Amino acid sequence: MIRIGVLASGGGTNLGAILDACAAGRIDGRVAVVVSNLPGAGALARAEKAGAAAEVVPSKGVTDRAAYDAQLVERLRAHGVELVCLAGYMRIVTPAFLRAFGPSEATRGCPRVLNIHPGLLPSFPGLHAQRQALDYGARFSGCTVHFVDEGTDTGPIVAQAIVPVLPDDTEAVLAARILEQEHRLYPQAIQWFAQGRLSLEGRRVRVDGSRPPAAFAQANPAVE
Ligand code: GRF
Repeated sequence: MIRIGVLASGGGTNLGAILDACAAGRIDGRVAVVVSNLPGAGALARAEKAGAAAEVVPSKGVTDRAAYDAQLVERLRAHGVELVCLAGYMRIVTPAFLRAFGPSEATRGCPRVLNIHPGLLPSFPGLHAQRQALDYGARFSGCTVHFVDEGTDTGPIVAQAIVPVLPDDTEAVLAARILEQEHRLYPQAIQWFAQGRLSLEGRRVRVDGSRPPAAFAQANPAVE
């Protein structure tokens, strides 16, 4: 059972999906602690409701990012966290934080910090990915679970899900369509990590025992 630490700044629907998946046995793990930089974050209430530890490390007025992240590392370690999941966490983590949760032999070269991004990376990294996709005129968008590196949404990709962008979409409608996929994809990727099925070669993440996506396999029976 892997001990998961979740960092969240917002409403925490992805956290909710992770908590549900742990409770249902779809993740071989449990959420050991949820930490937020914002005292009023909905994610904290969700954590408490689910009986998970919830802590605030306030970021308001903080200018020393290294000192802030050192506090985070200390709190996560206090709860024995083995995997950190960023879920709507609106701060960039420092290199020292990433080193604290860096790869080990046990993780087969995989770092121990994951993030979910509401876009198909490497397109549209950073803030407002859904609006970026709409404004650009992309026909498809989706979400990406990736390991976190020192860049913004540039780490090795673990999993992606695709949704269409429809002609009458608003940013909110597209975001909701993507969010539905986020709630499915993030727990799945965490479970792969928990099962030790992930390994990293260069920046390519291998998932042991994975099959091609169903739609592709149907059209290309030879690859099954
Ligand atoms: C999600 O779209 C996530 O991909 C992005 O921020 C949003 C957070 O939503 N990084 P929630 O707080 O999990 O509801």
